[in-house]
Amino acid sequence: MNPVTPVSPINSIYILGIESSCDDTSAAVLRNGVLLSNVTASQAVHESYGGVVPELASRAHQQNMVPVVDQAIKKAGITKEQLSAVAFTRGPGLMGSLLVGVSFAKGFARSLGIPMIDVNHLQGHVMAHFIKECDDDHSAPPFPFLCLLVSGGNSQIVQVNAYNDMQVLGQTIDDAAGEAIDKCSKVMGLGYPGGPIIDRLARQGNPCAFKFSEPHIPGLDYSFSGLKTSFLYNLRKWVEENPDFIEQNKEDLAASLEHTIVSILMKKLKFAVKETGIKHVAVAGGVSANNGLRNAFYEYQKKYGWTIYIPKFSYTTDNAAMIGITGYYKFLDHDFCSIDKPAFSKVTFR
Ligand code: KG4
Repeated sequence: MNPVTPVSPINSIYILGIESSCDDTSAAVLRNGVLLSNVTASQAVHESYGGVVPELASRAHQQNMVPVVDQAIKKAGITKEQLSAVAFTRGPGLMGSLLVGVSFAKGFARSLGIPMIDVNHLQGHVMAHFIKECDDDHSAPPFPFLCLLVSGGNSQIVQVNAYNDMQVLGQTIDDAAGEAIDKCSKVMGLGYPGGPIIDRLARQGNPCAFKFSEPHIPGLDYSFSGLKTSFLYNLRKWVEENPDFIEQNKEDLAASLEHTIVSILMKKLKFAVKETGIKHVAVAGGVSANNGLRNAFYEYQKKYGWTIYIPKFSYTTDNAAMIGITGYYKFLDHDFCSIDKPAFSKVTFR
């Protein structure tokens, strides 16, 4: 059993959030749901490998965890004894990475005699919309709303009925949107992660220069593996004909790839709005930093009368502020976790 000692008066709930599901070690402190600090150490070590190397990621988390947490607490201007609970990402993610954050969070909470709160990483991304930087921030979406959750590991349409009530309406049956972007960027010989590079190049290219196949999947599910293969095969053919093809066309290739992915994402989202009648629509996850996707949201807002919610860039990719805010609402529900709950790697929304 987890020792649950109410340590704070109700008007000062301090939550420490910890995120370590992939290659970012992040810690954040919130007071009564308002963000006081959010510190992230990213891992440049993976760049030369063109993708995250799990073993290197967990080693880097080991090195970064204590200094990052220490900095987050200091930046928040509190002491660790003032914390009310420790919220941490329990999954999904890379097991070796998760184990570092989960073990640290459990040990830290135990040593302070405060509750631990487990957070689902995917729900954390959606909850990024409730991060407040000051008391009078009222920009959060009202319930119910739809959230397009697009990251390196997932692409989902989620109906959010309450802080603790989310339903997945559709999701990818193979690759995630971010994964497809990263892999296409890799075959073009660009750096890692590909998302920001494709985004930058796409701003200077023609989105209609090349056509790539779009999937025909029923319902609200997504698929991106066909697009990835079509991109790869076409590219091989063009490079055979002209070895300088990528260098001469990288802006147009990036713009056309981005255009196809945004089109796939938005068509299903539009269908979800029609099916549910919910016109409050949010976007979350690393790919929500993409300018083409953000522009499509603005366009749909104008065209279809949606009310849209787009997170600040700093809360799109993995961060502990989103874990902290999820933890805060679970704290209010007394939804704590026992010490024997293990990390999990598989994608689940529970
Ligand atoms: O949410 P996230 O940080 O990690 C996961 O939970 O997966 O998302 C990472 C993904 C990567 O695939 C990365 O390439 C993509 O988000 N990404 C972008 C952009 N910034 C990050 N994709 C497109 N455009 C961007 N500006």
